[in-house]
Amino acid sequence: DSHSTLSITVVGASGDLAKKKIFPALFALYYEDWLPQNFRVFGYARTKMTDEELRNMISRTLTCRVDKREDCEQKMNNFLGRCFYQAGQYSSEEHFAELDTKLKEKEGGKSSNRLFYLSIPPNIFVDVVRCASLRASSATGWTRVIVEKPFGRDSESSAELTKCLKQYLTEEQIFRIDHYLGKELVENLSVLRFSNRVFEPLWSRDYIRNVQLIFSEDFGTEGRGGYFDNYGIIRDIMQNHLLQILTLFAMETPVSLDAEDIRNEKVKVLRSMKTLQLEDVTLGQYKGFSKDDPTVPKDSITPTFAAAALFINNARWDGVPFLMKAGKALHTKRAEIRVQFRHVPGNLYKRNFGTDLDKATNELVLRVQPDEAIYLKINNKVPGLGMRLDRSDLNLLYKARYPREIPDAYERLLLDAIEGERRLFIRSDELDAAWALFSPMLKELEEKRIVPELYPYGSRGPVGAHYLAAKHDVRWGDLSGDDS
Ligand code: BG6
Repeated sequence: DSHSTLSITVVGASGDLAKKKIFPALFALYYEDWLPQNFRVFGYARTKMTDEELRNMISRTLTCRVDKREDCEQKMNNFLGRCFYQAGQYSSEEHFAELDTKLKEKEGGKSSNRLFYLSIPPNIFVDVVRCASLRASSATGWTRVIVEKPFGRDSESSAELTKCLKQYLTEEQIFRIDHYLGKELVENLSVLRFSNRVFEPLWSRDYIRNVQLIFSEDFGTEGRGGYFDNYGIIRDIMQNHLLQILTLFAMETPVSLDAEDIRNEKVKVLRSMKTLQLEDVTLGQYKGFSKDDPTVPKDSITPTFAAAALFINNARWDGVPFLMKAGKALHTKRAEIRVQFRHVPGNLYKRNFGTDLDKATNELVLRVQPDEAIYLKINNKVPGLGMRLDRSDLNLLYKARYPREIPDAYERLLLDAIEGERRLFIRSDELDAAWALFSPMLKELEEKRIVPELYPYGSRGPVGAHYLAAKHDVRWGDLSGDDS
């Protein structure tokens, strides 16, 4: 409304994430009229810059949606006119007090809500939170802080970080981002399941044989080798993005769509899971990883690929393998959820499949990216005389069905944070439970210096992933070669 203002401060404004994701997402929200009337965007970083220089920097990152070109330039200029810059150190309370002065000046005495987006390395999280909360909190409205992973690198460091954050912020003020939760198909997972009578009754060990969560990128660590070498693919992708998808996939029906109800169910899944053991994982590293970045040691054993088998020890999922696979520098860029169903008992058409009944299992695929799609593999009669069966897809291809461009994950998450919707953010107990599953195994990997299997850049990854799957009587659906 016109009586209050919203000030969004991007701390670390000149960083990569800010330029690639945050400013473009804010502009898209403004463009589509999702932001409140009186909003402003502030950049904060150490580099000296004028407002004009910040605007130039931001303007280079903005693009217009194809479907509405005409007023785009005008809107861009309006948006840039609401962007301001303040230089300062990340650990200086005085500098944050100066930011506060600038915010107040622009807020013009109206009651104000303040959102801080910390787009900065983890070693300065706590300093910034301290300075911002002590010196630049709103005195008249809410103050919220968005933080990005890494949230520590194991249970202890994560708990320590949370403890430090909570010296200055309440749970309600902390918005931990996992940007995979902002992706359209991940958001759709619950809709698909809970609003379709044909899916929910099948969602258990009675019908589902295994679930696969697959992430692959067709490029390496690209200039982020230093960060990556310290974390590895398990912490970078599995413990957060893939595990979040898993919990949403597997949770019981929540009491309601309220954030706390949903997050309670997610925590229950995590706490029902078996802690990972060394034998549940297999690791890979692409050839040339250590040459990508001068800070990466030549003998680095950091995994850039991993596959893992996880189990949920509850009534619904007992014995069903949830297989994860994540890797960099593979042959394709893709993220998907694959659900393989059980064989048809006493299949009448058995002989039409030859000896390999696995070829006849139904498979539901949710392709998160690229080319969002949901498809179901079914067995079908090839039209004509005689009886020949083949596999066909019931296929919902988003770009054919919904031609409008899908918003970036950051748009949804920023909007939710502004609106105080916490459903898609990670609660502290949820984070603890997620780390508890992975920490002991990660520690053991490092102590025993387990060496990853090398794989060629651009390949399908190490063969270890096949052995791990085979151990659980699973075949990777993405490698079966009969996808649409
Ligand atoms: C980030 C990881 O969280 O997600 C990166 O740190 C990864 O290593 C990225 O590249 C992938 O995100 P997206 O949205 O491009 O699939």
